[in-house]
Amino acid sequence: MKVLFGNVAHAAPLCGEERKVVIVEKEIHLLYGKPLADAIRSELIVIEGKEAGKSGEEAFFLISTLVQRGVTRDCLLIGMGGGATTDLVAFVSSIYLRGVPFVLIPTTLLGCVDAAIGGKTAINLPSGKNLVGSFAHPQSILIDFGLLRSLPEKEWVNGLAEMWKLGLVSDRSLWGCSISEASIKKAIEGKLRVVEQDPEERGPRRILNFGHTVGHALESATFYSLSHGQAVAFGCLAESYLSARLGRLPLEQWEEIESVYRQFPWNIPQKYNREVFLQSIRCDKKKGKEGIRFTLIDQIGHAAPFEGDYCHAVSPFDFQELLYWIENTWRQISSETSLGSPLLENLMEKEWVSSLMDVPQDSFSKKRR
Ligand SMILES: NC(=O)c1ccc[n+]([C@@H]2O[C@H](COP(=O)([O-])OP(=O)(O)OC[C@H]3O[C@@H](n4cnc5c(N)ncnc54)[C@H](O)[C@@H]3O)[C@@H](O)[C@H]2O)c1
Repeated sequence: MKVLFGNVAHAAPLCGEERKVVIVEKEIHLLYGKPLADAIRSELIVIEGKEAGKSGEEAFFLISTLVQRGVTRDCLLIGMGGGATTDLVAFVSSIYLRGVPFVLIPTTLLGCVDAAIGGKTAINLPSGKNLVGSFAHPQSILIDFGLLRSLPEKEWVNGLAEMWKLGLVSDRSLWGCSISEASIKKAIEGKLRVVEQDPEERGPRRILNFGHTVGHALESATFYSLSHGQAVAFGCLAESYLSARLGRLPLEQWEEIESVYRQFPWNIPQKYNREVFLQSIRCDKKKGKEGIRFTLIDQIGHAAPFEGDYCHAVSPFDFQELLYWIENTWRQISSETSLGSPLLENLMEKEWVSSLMDVPQDSFSKKRR
């Protein structure tokens, strides 16, 4: 998997001479999609994007448009947008004409450090997220930091939560990091390393699920008023607590984790629905014969291997304790949220962020893999 860094306006030589089709989500079509298509002399298709557009209907719309335009297997599809868009374009590329070459250009921080990296594609069904998908690798992933300049705060936080998660499970230096060019590149390297070890998620790649069992359940239990980044951050905190409670994580490291998460820019609503939370936990994909299973850490920067399984069944008693801790901590963080949370800007390298606004970047020169 090739990850290249630079300014997308200089991407033409990377895309070759073949016919190209940029597929961009509506939100950023005028800002980035049209200028890219003009710069690399490509056709353009605008799709809905976002979670609502990661659907069977939108996949069918895209496939029908490709058929109408006579797109063949020697064309290159270029998917540009947030993680929902790159998941959809990668999925369609993997099934249209039994697979056409594609390139991804993620435009959110979460897309850069997570969704576009790793070869997983998906669409949602009305009955659940990511229920249809495939493994398929793009020809390359182009990262242009300049495309992040228009991101709202919430989207920076979503990416930051995943970077901290990676810090907890595999690279201590990312743990509690701020957002900078260096930390984003390190997070991408980190995810690539995990994926290379286990491309189809049969074992070690499960460490990337850390924080997500509790996180997904909280998203459901707040009827999605909680953003994904907030849910993942809270989930990582809860699953670190569980790791310490089960005697895997040394107590002083748990205390360190707890204190670093005090700096996180929390935005947690007061209410959550316990029944929906429990229902969602019971349906978690890691559930086994022994019951609910969690990914755990045994030190900051290292997930507990459990003989290659990378997840561990938790007894009803321990789960009850975890629930008690979650509800107490939820109350505490949500009441602090209403008084004002730590600011995201304290976790962003200010000079780098302001440089995104005006300094032209290099053309694609740094080959990462
Ligand atoms: N394939 C994988 O391995 C993998 C891993 C993690 C997440 N995902 C998927 O990624 C999706 C989440 O990705 P996301 O957080 O990027 O969400 P998203 O795609 O919904 O984008 C978030 C928001 O940012 C907007 N946006 C995108 N780029 C922008 C820009 N440059 N400036 C301003 N606004 C912009 C979008 O329109 C949207 O409103 C989920 O569907 C999730 O399942 C996939």
